[in-house]
Amino acid sequence: MAKSAYIRSIGRCLPERKLTNQDLEKMVDTTDEWIFSRTGIRERRILEPGLGNSHMAARAARECLDRAGVEAGEVDVIIVATVTPDMFFPSTACLVQKGIGAKNAWGFDLSAGCSGFVFALSTGAQMIGFGHYKKILAIGSDVMSSIVDYEDRSTCVLFGDGAGAVLLEPCPEDGYGVLDFIQRIDGRGGDFLHMKAGGSLKPATLETVRNKEHYVYQEGRQVFKFAVTEMAEVSAKIMDRNGLTGQDVKLFIPHQANLRIIDASAKRMKIDPEKVVINIDKYANTTAATIPLCLYEAVNEEKKLNKGDYLVMSAFGAGFTWGSVLMRWWE
Ligand code: ACO
Repeated sequence: MAKSAYIRSIGRCLPERKLTNQDLEKMVDTTDEWIFSRTGIRERRILEPGLGNSHMAARAARECLDRAGVEAGEVDVIIVATVTPDMFFPSTACLVQKGIGAKNAWGFDLSAGCSGFVFALSTGAQMIGFGHYKKILAIGSDVMSSIVDYEDRSTCVLFGDGAGAVLLEPCPEDGYGVLDFIQRIDGRGGDFLHMKAGGSLKPATLETVRNKEHYVYQEGRQVFKFAVTEMAEVSAKIMDRNGLTGQDVKLFIPHQANLRIIDASAKRMKIDPEKVVINIDKYANTTAATIPLCLYEAVNEEKKLNKGDYLVMSAFGAGFTWGSVLMRWWE
């Protein structure tokens, strides 16, 4: 039987600088009331200029290794889920490898928008299951402030910066760790959420910069419709096919894009609100980092998970991409 992977430790990096709804009221035509009632967001963190994604990702990875007492040289693989790498190449994984001194690791970046961490977790778990690797860092890290137009009220209120990292290892006991996952993509969703220029199809020119084509383009209402349906669907499905109900699940960690999407998923899962981890009010949508940032608080700070507890994590994002992971906590 393939070995399941468990999460041995969790690290994070949150920039110091806070951008509150009140700050945004001074920048665009919006109100704290609109932002909070539509999204659940109060404030977000912004990375200081001059630093890139790999700075946050490496700091999260370093804390993760320190918490486990593991040397960077022991790491086999580094997977960085992100849509805001320092640069197209080298990959953020290479920059993190250098930053933490993981001299025996290889790795790669994984681009799946807000589903990036869920995909990185299930990919890392499958690599552990193959038996070849013993220590994998799965990192979700995004500097959304680098691709958000702070003159566009419909997007700039939604996003923030942050990074979270987990260390995956083969689970010492059968029946624990990552038990199941669902991963989905539907490229038709690209029309509603993308960046228009800067890639090979439309390289950067003076005109693309002038037209603001290097920022997030989102048709929020369309994305909302899909997100509500699909995230709820995979969250319910992963429980159903493992014979679990909302009562059996100790914690649900949804991607933090919008409180209304989170509520719809929890309702579909018939899961009590107190089992749902929410920190969107403090950090907004940090894209690939939302789930590990929630996990950090639930495990390291609030000690909410004990051995044997079932945990469901679900996400939905650009692509469209979406998926869920079912874990049974081992500690
Ligand atoms: N302040 C005040 N008014 C605003 C703001 C703002 N910040 N932004 C938009 N409005 C206005 C609009 O102009 C519109 O006005 P109109 O009716 O006169 O045209 C009105 O508010 C309603 O706009 P909607 O877009 O319909 O508002 P909605 O209730 O759909 O909320 C939101 C918008 C929060 C973006 C929502 O659609 C949403 O959460 N969508 C999903 C986002 C998501 O999950 N993204 C996926 C992950 S991101 C990733 O992968 C990178």
